[in-house]
Amino acid sequence: MIIYLDQEALDVASGLSVAAAVAASGDPRTRTSCSGQPRTPLCGMGICQECRMTIDGQRQLACQTLCRDGMRVERSQ
Ligand code: FES
Repeated sequence: MIIYLDQEALDVASGLSVAAAVAASGDPRTRTSCSGQPRTPLCGMGICQECRMTIDGQRQLACQTLCRDGMRVERSQ
């Protein structure tokens, strides 16, 4: 299936979380902190909040969201 990561098409396997798909893209950044530091998923189970991304227009945890065909994912602050 195809998701769009920062407007670029990314072919991902079904059943992957968005965090796993982003990591597989070669650039695991999910967001940028207020001080400009890149952030990446840490816990993978919904606790650390480091994987917050804009997914189909809403802030969601990438590690808790499964990819869907046509999904639009954006790295954010
Ligand atoms: S990786 Fe920790 S909440 Fe998603």
